[in-house]
Amino acid sequence: MKLFLDTASVDEIKVINDIGVLDGVTTNPSLVAKEKSNFRGILKEICGLVKGPVSAEVVATEYEGMIKEGTELAKMADNIVVKVPLLKDGVKAVGKFTSLGIKTNVTLIFSPLQALLAAKTGASYVSPFVGRLDDVSHEGLQLVEEIITIFDQYEYKTQVLVASVRHPLHLVDAAMLGADVATMPFKVFDQIFRHPLTDVGLKTFLADWEKGKKQI
Ligand code: G3P
Repeated sequence: MKLFLDTASVDEIKVINDIGVLDGVTTNPSLVAKEKSNFRGILKEICGLVKGPVSAEVVATEYEGMIKEGTELAKMADNIVVKVPLLKDGVKAVGKFTSLGIKTNVTLIFSPLQALLAAKTGASYVSPFVGRLDDVSHEGLQLVEEIITIFDQYEYKTQVLVASVRHPLHLVDAAMLGADVATMPFKVFDQIFRHPLTDVGLKTFLADWEKGKKQI
């Protein structure tokens, strides 16, 4: 499973990218709004840092506006993926972007049939929001399972990108289901490096080493 960061923070991206385990980045208008620099400036910097796909979302909600924004975004870098909300105009725009060879990520997916619509028009990714479904007492990972099962029946090439990840267990479940990608906030990416037994074990190894006073 590929691991993406869900952030518009260049500082956060640098930390994970430097370790060599970052496969891509997703942004959304809420994440961009938290940053001081302008959208285009941030995107240029992120696309220069990260080799993998970088999702940049359109804010237009009608077809022509989405096509205008999306084609401009796609010109900014080879690794831009145009993120489009699951609306009728959004699905139509994805079909156009597909015909132009522009990669797309269809966002705000909350049902398997929404994912099917996106796949039919050639979306590169669909983003089911697991955390937001859990928040309203629906099983977010069940949606992921349904989408993967449907896509497998018809051999759609659209990748399932698990979004709205809140904790490492979401990632374990997504990977066990065979999701193609999971995108997560920095906090969750940081958590997956850690385990209390790793810390305790290392402390013991180093203390024993000191006691034995061995030379390297
Ligand atoms: O970027 C899309 C998605 O990952 C947002 O997640 O945490 O705002 O529900 P969240």
